Order: sequence, then C-alpha cells, then structure tokens
Amino acid sequence: MYEFMAWLQGSAVGHAMRESGVWTYGVVNLVHILGVASLFGAVLVLDLRLLGLWRNVTLPAISKPTVPIAATGFVIAAMSGVCLLATKATEYVGNPFLYIKFPAIGLGLVNFVALKSLSAWKEHRIRELSSREQSKLAVFGRISLFCWLTALSAGRMIGYW
Ligand code: HEM
Repeated sequence: MYEFMAWLQGSAVGHAMRESGVWTYGVVNLVHILGVASLFGAVLVLDLRLLGLWRNVTLPAISKPTVPIAATGFVIAAMSGVCLLATKATEYVGNPFLYIKFPAIGLGLVNFVALKSLSAWKEHRIRELSSREQSKLAVFGRISLFCWLTALSAGRMIGYW
C-alpha cells in the first residue's frame, strides 16, 4: 500500500498538483465535490424510486436522466479524486476512512453492474414490471444507497483523521 501511494505521490500528477499554484488543490477539490454532488444527487433520486417512492412517476422517466448524470458525476469524482490523492498520497496510509471509502465505491460499482444485468432492469423501459421484479430492483436500490452514502460520509471524514 505504502509503495503504491509513494509512487502516486511521485507521479507527474502528484508533482503537477503540488507545484502548479496555491489554487490548484482548491479548484480540483471543488470539481470533486461537483462530481460527488451529481453522482449522489442522481443516485438518491433513482434509489428512492426503486425503493417505492413516487410510484405515480414511471421508472423510465426517472432512470433516463439520473443514470447518465450519476455516471458522469462518477467519472468526474474519480478523476479529480485521483488528483487529490496524488497530492499527498503517503499521508493517507493508515487513514481508516480511506479503507471504508474505497470498498464502498467498489461495492457500489459492482451493485450497479449487477443491477444493469438484471432482465427486470433491461426491460423496465419497454414493459410494466411485476411487483416481484420491483421488489428485486428495490434490493439493489437499498444496497446502492448504503454504498454511496458510506462513500460520501467516509470521504468527508478523511480529512479529519
Ligand atoms: C473513485 C475515486 C476517488 C478518489 C481517489 C477520491 C479521493 C479523495 C481524496 C484524496 C479526498 C481528500 C480527502 C482530504 O484530505 O480531505 C476526497 C474527498 C472527498 N471525497 Fe473522494 N475520491 C473518490 C471518489 C469519491 C466518491 C465516489 C465520493 C462520493 C460518493 C467521494 C466523496 C468525497 C467527499 C465528500 C470528500 C470531502 C471533500 C471535502 O470535504 O472538501 N469521493 N476524495
């Protein structure tokens, strides 16, 4: 772990983050928050719908805008997050919140890929789902909320360790 963090810190990204002006870290942090906000905001709406809220709004009406916003937010958060990490990567070794945050992100991604492979998800835009299928999707919505809320909370706590 330490070797990887030392390599990341010594990489071109690490150097650029530390040596390109006092505002660099702040601006990249702002970009990170914008990515996180887009990801979590979209995920929250989609997951609450999967859990059964706003049943009078069809699932496709919610999944169509929220999935691309969440995916874009994730890419922005991941790219800016690596830059933040590279700034002082070795200082994060031993930070427990990092070891909570990354597995939560990993599980959130696995859960999303698994959701997308379900026939109920694949077909939700072309037909009405049975209540059994809706309950199945709700399980994925619950896991997703747990993962992204954990990643968000642990991310916020990293700096306080
Ligand atoms: C996937 C790659 C990601 C990496 C490498 C990464 C890395 C980081 C780093 C190094 C920090 C700064 C910690 C500090 O010293 O204060 C940070 C902050 C934060 N991250 Fe991430 N992050 C990633 C994705 C995410 C995601 C997906 C979320 C939310 C679901 C998230 C939520 C946060 C939050 C809330 C903060 C606190 C920002 C602040 O208080 O200013 N991060 N992240």
